[in-house]
Parts: sequence; structure tokens; C-alpha cells
Amino acid sequence: MNQHLRRTPTRLADGRELVYFDDSPAYVSGERTRRLDDPRPLGDRFAPVTGPDGHEHPYTGPEMRLDPLTGDWIPLAAHRMNRTFLPAADSCPLCPATPGAPYSDGEVPDTDYDVVVFENRFPSLQSVPGLAGSPDALHDQDTLQTRAPASGRCEVIVFSSDHSSSFGALTPRRVRTIIDAWADRTEALGHEPGVEQVFCFENRGQEIGVTLHHPHGQIYGYPYVTPRSRAMLAQARAHHERTGGHLLRDVLAAELADGRRIVLATEHWVAYVPFAARWPVEVHLAPRRDVPDLPALSGAERDDLAVTYLELLRRLDLFFEGPDGAPVPLPYIAAWHQAPVREGRELSRLHLQVFSVLRAPGRLKYLAGSESGMGAWVSDTTPEQIAARLQALAPTPAAAPAAQWVESWPDDVGADRVRQAFAAAYPADGPEGGDAGDGVPEVRVYAAPGRVNIIGEHTDYNAGLCLPIALPHRTYVALRPRADSVVRLASAQEPGAAWTGRLEDVAPGAVTGWPAYVAGVAWALGQHLEATGGSAAQVRGFDAVIDSCVPYGAGLSSSAALECSVAVGIDDVAGLGLAATDAGRATLAAAAVRAENEVAGAPTGGMDQSASLRCAPGHALLLDCRPGLDPARAVEQIPFDLAAEGLALLVIDTRAEHALVDGQYAQRRATCEAAAATLGLANLRELADSVVAAAAGAPRAEPAFAEALGAALDRLPDDVSRRRVRHVVTEIARTQDLVSLLRAGRASDVGPLLDASHASLRDDYEVSATELDVAVEAARDAGALGARMTGGGFGGSAIALVPADRTRAVADAVAAAFAGAGLRAPGFLLALPSAPAHAC
Ligand code: GLA
Repeated sequence: MNQHLRRTPTRLADGRELVYFDDSPAYVSGERTRRLDDPRPLGDRFAPVTGPDGHEHPYTGPEMRLDPLTGDWIPLAAHRMNRTFLPAADSCPLCPATPGAPYSDGEVPDTDYDVVVFENRFPSLQSVPGLAGSPDALHDQDTLQTRAPASGRCEVIVFSSDHSSSFGALTPRRVRTIIDAWADRTEALGHEPGVEQVFCFENRGQEIGVTLHHPHGQIYGYPYVTPRSRAMLAQARAHHERTGGHLLRDVLAAELADGRRIVLATEHWVAYVPFAARWPVEVHLAPRRDVPDLPALSGAERDDLAVTYLELLRRLDLFFEGPDGAPVPLPYIAAWHQAPVREGRELSRLHLQVFSVLRAPGRLKYLAGSESGMGAWVSDTTPEQIAARLQALAPTPAAAPAAQWVESWPDDVGADRVRQAFAAAYPADGPEGGDAGDGVPEVRVYAAPGRVNIIGEHTDYNAGLCLPIALPHRTYVALRPRADSVVRLASAQEPGAAWTGRLEDVAPGAVTGWPAYVAGVAWALGQHLEATGGSAAQVRGFDAVIDSCVPYGAGLSSSAALECSVAVGIDDVAGLGLAATDAGRATLAAAAVRAENEVAGAPTGGMDQSASLRCAPGHALLLDCRPGLDPARAVEQIPFDLAAEGLALLVIDTRAEHALVDGQYAQRRATCEAAAATLGLANLRELADSVVAAAAGAPRAEPAFAEALGAALDRLPDDVSRRRVRHVVTEIARTQDLVSLLRAGRASDVGPLLDASHASLRDDYEVSATELDVAVEAARDAGALGARMTGGGFGGSAIALVPADRTRAVADAVAAAFAGAGLRAPGFLLALPSAPAHAC
């Protein structure tokens, strides 16, 4: 269900199951893999054990006994005799293995992981092969001393490899992975013979009896329906007989109708303090839809749950304040109530119960006589008071941090900064200087902009159309040519990461990190000169220093800005004259693309470099990416004066990490190329053109278009390719539609096209991220006319078209939504169509 997740199962040395759940792109794509072998000297967990009498006995596992007074099963966890190997007292068994250690020192073989699940080494429930597991057979026995093997499963789920983290500090993406892992285990344990109910839970804090502080939870597969679930099922049955209704659904409806105890309500989830809450702090989180268990949740419900759960935990951790006013992290139990595997599923409904034993800072509610002796609870507070406190902790726009604006630098400021950085890095007459003495060439400064794409996403490498503008945010390079072929590089953003090399040594694979983008351009221009009858030696060595106000990793093409500033610099000092004409700039852009694709190793499509070199102020660049097109026919400047229409384009940098060198981008590209090949086409643009032709030019919204597209999609072998291709074809059509609106002076009507583009990227192309969806929705809610993710995706930036006088209000609302969802504060930029790469 989740494209961004990879599941890797293995077995530990004693035979227990371990499953890695990874969401880091390099693991999802399969580029990297997890360590699978466990080199510890652990014997088979079911091997015979030597008893106190010195004899070997078959391993029996835990037993459980039936309490004849209550009908409850009581597992006896006293069987833990075969402990053959314990980790050293000072090592945490949940931490990843230490790199370089002779053998794994904990339970997890790899030196890192995202989320991992494994069978508990000393379980209180365990199915032992060969021992009859099901207690059902024993129910009929007329005895007051019924015992049975405590079969089932106890698993540990580790939420993070970071020992000092906590569930509430995780990102929504990681929480989504945990939700998927819970769902996976619920499904898997439900298929284990004899398991009647699966329980996912987290105990947090010493007060709850937690001894391992590493963030983790547990998953139990019980061989019986637990007492609380049995009690709830009995109530649900009685309610159904009395009213015909569904108890948990009706409880949620009653809470919503009452409203006083609602803590938060999102599209898919509602959190409320139950009418008869029994704990000093207690809140339930239930889906709006009737869902029996975690596996039944949709992708959208899981995404929403990740954000909502984090918001709930944020508030719970602020619930109590210490004497100094500092929040007291809440010890809590988080318990997922799921339908039993077989019994009463139709009467059950998934919900999370989070509760605490803390009554006040430092004061616990003890389960004393009434609670422990009689099971008769007495509460020391009221549910309304608990709810009022949790409601008061809701984020308000006023309490949220003000929107952080990322300002651009005027050229004189940028040039000044980078000149100063240059002087500091390469003192003019330093021993390593270029032509020391009188012949030292002057230092010149060049600037190139980042870009934001208005529409036409993931179309460039499909020979499609896109529509970027150049940002006023630029990368500055101070460059001084050298007489030799040495290149020395330094960056104000990465102090301490200076690089020196020789041009003749630069080649694909030979340079890594940011220097690859710079040295790669010199290499690619050399290749171009050779291919066109010149000599690569025309490109000489240089010393260069870089500074930039293009946010890095924000999907705003900081890499293209870097390549293109260097490209115009080399062009100038080598006297190539390419930057003087648009056709020459197309050549520079092609060299920058080669640098990125071949030397830096990011298989991107070329939009960014064309935008940085060929955009015009006040215009959007309609770029036709068909290969071999005459440069003059490949671009068209579309007037883009939003201010004249009282509009502005707001860029929201979600500050969620975004990288194009990972496998996801390459995978999308490969899927598209394979689909085109299946259809017998050179690229998907040919399909887009043929769909438009077959629909006799009918607009994208009309059935003829859908029919023509559907006929092509039917020829593709799998659903994933069909969705990817549908995105590309409809996105090209949306780009054409949007350009038509701009040409007609109707910029204020383009909002729905932006919205549709986002939906297509999120649902069909699957390159969005929680942060992008939150940004887009919050912007729309606050009055944006349309909004979408922009750039490659998986993080990075979103754009919102806003009435100019609402710009700040929309930014503040987005900042508040991020704070409310527990996300990192985003950055904001105003996208004014600005100048392309130039000498300063
Ligand atoms: C990144 C790439 C571009 C383009 C976009 C998606 O920005 O660098 O070439 O593919 O993603 O439209």
C-alpha cells in the first residue's frame, strides 16, 4: 500500500523473526540493503534445556492458567530459563549494531535502521512447535485447574535507531512507517495459528515500568480475546440488541454531537476524552470511518493519523508543568484496540486509547483498594477538565511562530559577499595563487537563479512541456582564471569542505558532493568544445568561491543555480561567447545538464538549467523538451505579471529533506521510459500529442480526451505504469491549458489547474509528502486560489497562488498548520519572475 516503504524480513541466530521497515529512499529503491545475518552465538530457542536436575528437558515455553473466578487467562512468564546470551549491562539491545564491532552487540544486526520489529527474546506468549496451542480444546473440561501453553507471539517494535529520541519527536513520515509496520504485524500475527487478538501498544516512561528507554513499543498476539475486549464486545452486543446500533460508532457520534470533550478533529480522525474517562489523563483517537483494525486503514487515513497522533502527543507532553513552568513529559500507555481475529469483528471498531497514571507532576494515581481489589475505578478529575486542558493546548495562529521569510540578495550584496569570501579563501599573493604578482587576473562574479516551476512537473524527461520562472534568489560565484588546469573550490555554505583537483582528472564518477556540479560543468564544456571541432583545453583551471541565497534541498534548483553560475563564468573567462545569445545559452544549459546527469549522477530532466539560463524577467518560460528541437522553437516567453492582476506566487519551502540523487526520481523516469517503449513510442510526449489528436483537440476535461487516454493506458501491463503515464499526459495538457489562460490574461483562473496538478502528483505519480500536502491544504484553506507541490517532490517546496493582499496571512496560516502538525517551521519566498544567469 505504501510505495515509500521497503520490508526486509530475516531470522536472528536463535530462529526468531526480524523485519526491517525502511522509508529512507536508498533502502526503498533497493540501492542499499540491510544486514541480514546475526553472527551472535545464540542456540536454537526451542532446543532442549538443562534443568536444575542436570538433565535435558524439551523446551516447553510459557504456560497460562484459567482463573475460574473471572474466566481470565493468566500467562505465567516464569519459563525464562534458557537465557544463553545477555547483552553487556551497558549496551542497549535495541540500539543498532556498532560499526566495526566483531559481532552484533544487540538484537538488530545492522548498524542503522528506520523501524524494526522482532520477536521478543523472553516472551510471555510463545507458540512452541509441537505443543498443542489452542486453549479452546480445554474450555469444556470440567476442572477448576485448567492450564494450557501460553501460545501466541510477543514482538518488539523499535521506532527509531536513535536511543535518545521518542515517538513524539519522530517525523510524520517515520510515524507513517510505524503505522504500516503495525498494520503489517497485525495481519501477520492474525494468521499465526491460535492467535485470537493482536494488540499494538507503547509504554512510555519509568512510571509505567519501562526499563529500556530506547523508543519502542510491543505487539502481542494473544491466544484468547482479552478481558477488556470481551467486556467491550458484551456491551456492544447488548447495545446492538437494544438499539440496532453499533456501540463504538454511536459513542463517537455522541461525542461529536456533544462536542465538549472533542480535543481535535481532522479529515479522517477524531480525538476525544471519553464521557466516563477513568484515568487522570485519558484520550481516545478514532477514525471517522468504521474500520475494524489497522490493516483496514486507507493510505489517506494513515497519513492523517501520522500527523494527528503526533499533534496529540505534543499536547500530552505539555499537559503538566513542573514547578519551574517547564513541561513534564507524560508517562503514558498508548493502546490500540483492534477487532479480534475471529470473534465479534462486526461489533468492534479500531481506536487508540492513550492514558496516563500521572495525576500531577510527581504524583501517581495508584491502583489501590477499590481499583485493584474490586476493579472499581474512582476518578480524581473530570473528563471535561482533561478535555479543556488538551483543547487549550491546541496551536493557535497567534501562538504559532511568525512565518520565516527567505529574502533574496540584491546583486551588489551577493557579489560583495562572495568577493569577501574569495579574498579570505585565496589571499591574492598566497603561495598557491594563480598567476601571483602583477599578472594576477581579476576576480569576476557571476550569478544564476534558482527556479520555481509553475506547472509541468516530471514532464521534462518525457519530452513534455513545463513552465518555470527564475527566482530572485541566486547563487553567486567569484571566479579567477588560472594559467594551469587546477581547479580550487570553496563554498561559504560548506566551510571546511574546500576541493582541489585537475581538469584532466574530472570525469563521471571521479568527483562527489557539491564540487561535482562545478567541476562537471568545466568537463562538459570541454566535451562540447571537442565535439564541435574545438579543444577542451580552451577551458582552463580556476579558483572559485560560492555563496548563495537559494535554499538548499528545497526543490528550487540550488544545483542548477550553481552549475549555471559557473557555466556563464567559464563561458566568459574562456571567451566562448555562448551566454550572449539564447541559442548559446541552450548550449550552456545542455552542458550543465550533462554535469548533473553524468558527473553528479542525478538523472534529472533539464528544466532547471534551461530556467536558470533562459528565463526572462517578468515572464514564465514555456519550455518544450522534445529532443533535437531547434533552440528558438523550444522556448517561448509567456508574460507573467501577477502583480498587475493583484496576485502573488508564494513559495513554501517545507524544509523536508529532498534529494534527487536517490532512487525514487530515477525509478519514476525509468517507469516512464519503459511505458513509452511498451507503447512503441520514443517518449510519452508522443502519446500526449496523439491523445490530443485522437480527441480531435477536445479539452482535457471532455470525455473524448479521457477515452483516447484510456485506450492507450489499457495497453500498459500494470497499474503503476498506467498511473504514472496518466500523470504525465494530463500534466502536459494542464500546462497547455494554463498557458492558454495566461495568454488570455486570466491568471486568476489557473488555481484549479494547480490543484489538479497536485492531486495527480500525489495520487498518480506518488511523489508528494505529508509536509507538501499539509502546505497545500493549509494555503488553500487560508484563501489561496490554487496550490501544488513543485519540483521533483518527496519534500522540497510547494507554491500557492494568492491574492497579493493575503500573502502574509496565507504564510502565517501555513506556518501555524505546520506548528499544529508538529512539523518543522517552513520557509517562505515570494516568487517574482527574475533575470537569468549573468555576470555581475
Ligand atoms: C527536478 C528535476 C527536473 C524535473 C523536476 C520535476 O527538479 O531536476 O528536471 O524533472 O524535478 O518536474
